[in-house]
Amino acid sequence: MTPPKKLFIKTYGCQMNVYDSERMAEALGGQGYVTTDTQDDADLILLNTCHIREKASEKVFSELGRLKLLKDERPNLKIGVAGCVAQAEGDEILRRAPVVDLVVGPQSYHRLPAMEAAVQAGARALDTDFPAEDKFEELKARPKAARGPVAFLTVQEGCDKFCAFCVVPYTRGAEVSRPADRILTEARGLVEAGVREITLLGQNVNAYHGHPGGLAGLIDDLAKVDGLERIRYTTSHPNDMDEALIVAHGTQPKLMPYLHLPVQSGSDRILKAMNRKHTADQYVDLIARIRAARPDILLSSDFIVGFPTETEAEFQQTLDLIRTIGFGMSYTFKYSTRPGTPAAEKPQLPDDVTTDRLHRLQSLITKQQRSVQESMVGRDVSVLFEKAGRMPGQVIGKSDYLHAVHVPAPVQMIGYVRRVRITTSGPNSLGGELI
Ligand code: SAH
Ligand code: SF4
Ligand code: F3S
Repeated sequence: MTPPKKLFIKTYGCQMNVYDSERMAEALGGQGYVTTDTQDDADLILLNTCHIREKASEKVFSELGRLKLLKDERPNLKIGVAGCVAQAEGDEILRRAPVVDLVVGPQSYHRLPAMEAAVQAGARALDTDFPAEDKFEELKARPKAARGPVAFLTVQEGCDKFCAFCVVPYTRGAEVSRPADRILTEARGLVEAGVREITLLGQNVNAYHGHPGGLAGLIDDLAKVDGLERIRYTTSHPNDMDEALIVAHGTQPKLMPYLHLPVQSGSDRILKAMNRKHTADQYVDLIARIRAARPDILLSSDFIVGFPTETEAEFQQTLDLIRTIGFGMSYTFKYSTRPGTPAAEKPQLPDDVTTDRLHRLQSLITKQQRSVQESMVGRDVSVLFEKAGRMPGQVIGKSDYLHAVHVPAPVQMIGYVRRVRITTSGPNSLGGELI
């Protein structure tokens, strides 16, 4: 028997890419590939890329430069580019980087086994179609191998929102929802393999319409799966937060009290220029309704600073909004010009102005994050244990509020949910004791 070929996938970008990387590895499993943790012994290296900001895309080309050296040493090594840079740049990658054998877009990776075979036969393969067939249907059923306690599950892809700064509608295409029965089958398989918590993924996950009851209906059906203990979902758009989903946060015990709901800015003029289609007040009202349904919910957001024409006063409105809401954590980004998006056509702000705003934004976000973490000390939470800690005798899990929690406990606890009293708060995690 020939030894299995080795596949190394390097994943950039969002959770949807993490999920896609798993599915690509499974698809190539049928071609005799096993995954490896290092590029040093790989026969095929796939970069699953992100196009969201300029830096993210640049990383791909510098990584390809490094991989060229590796390929010079091992000419049989094959190199592929997948994900959103593959979609956006397509054959430009093959032209710019002769080291690349294969370019596959996010909607075509069910065709990866055939492309790999073509590459082994000496071709260079490119597929960035938005095919008519559903890639999830074309992919074989997922293998039954044992898994860790947490998993992602993509339920919706693509985006029709066209925020003025964003490439996602171009790289991932229009909004498509997977049928609920397929998702339930996949979820049952994951639970049989040991998964206890599923995070439903979509570029606009709350625009999900593959179930007559929308995302809330899907969550209710998933909650009936025995052995599945926790459900989360990300990323949501404020305008798709319907009443049923808000109610579910108060009534569905398996739905965790954490919500990532990006707002981007606190200025109505900037929100309008971003094409977000809601005002700051509408966001504040929405949060009030969500908190009425689930008072202890922990909220997080994304913020962009330095959007073209943003004034200091408008930036201050973003800080005001953050003070009004009180976020448990947030991601902050400097606006990055993306060719082909409407905002790229506008006059751009000087980098020093944007950098200064970013620092001020980050310090407020960090302050809020610390104070929310500190407020957890003395409280009892549920923790799903995921892995052994670095210190012997310690295991790490996530609380219902998605805080990482270190607890002295045996490793046999991995895969179980236990009540934990929080005793300490560090910069990025909490410490606690089993109750
Ligand atoms: N669909 C999600 C987010 C997708 S991208 C939503 O609508 O909220 C993740 C985050 O990247 C965005 O929320 C935004 O804050 C950030 N982002 C997207 N394009 C960007 C750009 N051109 N420059 C800087 N940040 C950007
Ligand atoms: Fe991008 Fe806006 Fe769509 Fe989110 S909603 S993926 S930010 S276009
Ligand atoms: Fe990046 Fe594509 Fe996700 S651009 S953030 S990998 S959808």
